[in-house]
Amino acid sequence: MSKTKEAKRVTTHVLQEMKASGQRISMITAYDYSLARLVDGAGIDVILVGDSASNVMAGHEPPLPITLDQMIYHACGVVRGCERALIVVDLPFGTYQGNTKLALSSAIRIMKESGAHAVKLEGGREVAGSVERILSAGIPVMGHLGLTPQSIYKFGTYVVRAKEEAEAQRLREDAKLLEEAGCFAIVLEKIPAALATEVARSVSIPVIGIGAGAGVDGQVLVLHDMLGINKEFNPRFLRRYADLHHIITDAVGNYISDVRSGDFPNTEEQY
Ligand code: KIV
Repeated sequence: MSKTKEAKRVTTHVLQEMKASGQRISMITAYDYSLARLVDGAGIDVILVGDSASNVMAGHEPPLPITLDQMIYHACGVVRGCERALIVVDLPFGTYQGNTKLALSSAIRIMKESGAHAVKLEGGREVAGSVERILSAGIPVMGHLGLTPQSIYKFGTYVVRAKEEAEAQRLREDAKLLEEAGCFAIVLEKIPAALATEVARSVSIPVIGIGAGAGVDGQVLVLHDMLGINKEFNPRFLRRYADLHHIITDAVGNYISDVRSGDFPNTEEQY
């Protein structure tokens, strides 16, 4: 889409209509102005400023260290780069759990300081109070169930979640609860496809999957993973749409040899 054309903004209401009409929702992460501008221009529906920034931008393994200030910094760049997509920002670890007042003030900071459109948080019944309190300020909330990376030390592993009936039942109930609390959408991460399909059919709000099969209302991937920048991360659910690892390594390698040989810059590339 051309940046000069007026782009109609995707809203939570538009996502609701997309679910109702069976149109699948595309969502992707972005953490900075330049890449947000590219994915927005390509026509993505939702951009998630995920706390996966802690992994792909800062090199941490679990996303726990990223701070609210850092999330706001990333979100500001994304907001400046977008005209069309709905922009959702993750509440980072330690800014909403177990404290509804803190949850509200963290969400307000994100909305006021970045200009994003919604927040996302992880968990079910244990965060329902925070969801309701954030919503009381008119801030849309996206839920996140299944594999929730902020709780990785509780799970102890990145394996598929909710394979056992007790955990599956808890997830079904939590999805209903998040819907009742007022979430406008839910991300389901790394759970059996049949369970994800069942959950998507049981709630009226859009369900966006990552490693949750094709029976949900939309899909989300981490941008750096699907572009093949991060070549070490190879989960089964990941489809790579580019091989930027090799493209960037080759390009930078060619630049280095041109600098070393004196080939760059040539007479056309100087003043
Ligand atoms: O932080 C993130 O990128 C996410 C997605 C994997 C859904 O939460």
